Amino acid sequence: MKTAKLIIIGFGVIGKGFVRVLIMKHNEILKNHDIDLKVVAICEIDGSLVNEKGIDLESALKLAEKEELKKHNDWRSIKGLEVIEEIDADIVLELTPGNIKSGEPGLSHIICALKNGRHVVTSNKAPLALRFSQLHKLAEKRGVKLRYEASVGGAIPIINLYRNNMQINKIHSIYGILNGTSNFILTKMFEEDLALDIALKEAQEIGIAEKDPSYDINGIDTGVKLVILANSLMDKKISFRDVKITGIKEVTPESVELAKNHGFVIKLIGDVNKLEVSPRLVPLDHPLNVSGTLNAIMLDTDIAGSIILVGHGAGKIETASSLFSDVLDILRS
Ligand SMILES: NC(=O)c1ccc[n+]([C@@H]2O[C@H](COP(=O)([O-])OP(=O)(O)OC[C@H]3O[C@@H](n4cnc5c(N)ncnc54)[C@H](OP(=O)(O)O)[C@@H]3O)[C@@H](O)[C@H]2O)c1
Repeated sequence: MKTAKLIIIGFGVIGKGFVRVLIMKHNEILKNHDIDLKVVAICEIDGSLVNEKGIDLESALKLAEKEELKKHNDWRSIKGLEVIEEIDADIVLELTPGNIKSGEPGLSHIICALKNGRHVVTSNKAPLALRFSQLHKLAEKRGVKLRYEASVGGAIPIINLYRNNMQINKIHSIYGILNGTSNFILTKMFEEDLALDIALKEAQEIGIAEKDPSYDINGIDTGVKLVILANSLMDKKISFRDVKITGIKEVTPESVELAKNHGFVIKLIGDVNKLEVSPRLVPLDHPLNVSGTLNAIMLDTDIAGSIILVGHGAGKIETASSLFSDVLDILRS
């Protein structure tokens, strides 16, 4: 049996979701993969839980839900960067929010982890969209892996599908719906004839949209994911600044109605070939016409032809599926 030690940086929706799934699946992973996964540190902004024998995850979750993580027996004032340097671990899970201008705090965490010879698994898009090549070169130099399936399409296994099962294919194009919030809004506008601001308010009320939804509405989140797909699947070597982005702010009920009358729906599409994010007309019977918060990604390849992936692009439990796929892949290899 192999024991693998994990450090989690960022104990929000995704961090807690990962821990919940680990509690649920720990014994199954042990039985099926012969791997004992232990979380030795959980880092938040102002301190960390640290226990080199393995943190009691049930109590960490309970206290975190009550925002009382500091009451945990393993709480210490040490923060993420020091934890990565000082605590022995195999994999760092970087799960903090991403700032698209600076890439921080995730960028520093990832660089520090790679420099210290730790593998990295992240759901954080911003560091990858800004420094994709640099981070990969650093990982290669240190002989460790940098994996990021959860950063694009949440639970949709697009990057690992290509990496593990489609190596022979050359991808001609990738395009699709990569942001669940804007798709939810456009679906509401289409199905219930709502104005954008009303649909957005509804999305916020049921917890689908952030208080500040500008990354979603302005197409920035889609642009960031497009960069990761372009670099990882098509070797494009581009940065976020290379993408032309138009969000959905200008989509009106009248334009939605006009499209509907002609057999189309308006969707926010990320197009890797054109390096463009924009609202586009999609025929009603097209496979990319998915509703609600679903994501849909279409790959056109030379050998396999077209492949369409549809699934949950976000969600605490759903996204954990992709994080575990990366963690187990690293440990198996
Ligand atoms: N939510 C999803 O469904 C989803 C899906 C795919 C990818 N992602 C990506 O995954 C990442 C995490 O998302 P999330 O929804 O879990 O965000 P979240 O709920 O805001 O959680 C992030 C956590 O990181 C903490 N944090 C911030 N700065 C930190 C630092 N310097 N050191 C340690 N912890 C720090 C935050 O603390 P405070 O709350 O005190 O600031 C918060 O607890 C983001 O990059 C997001 O884009 C999310």
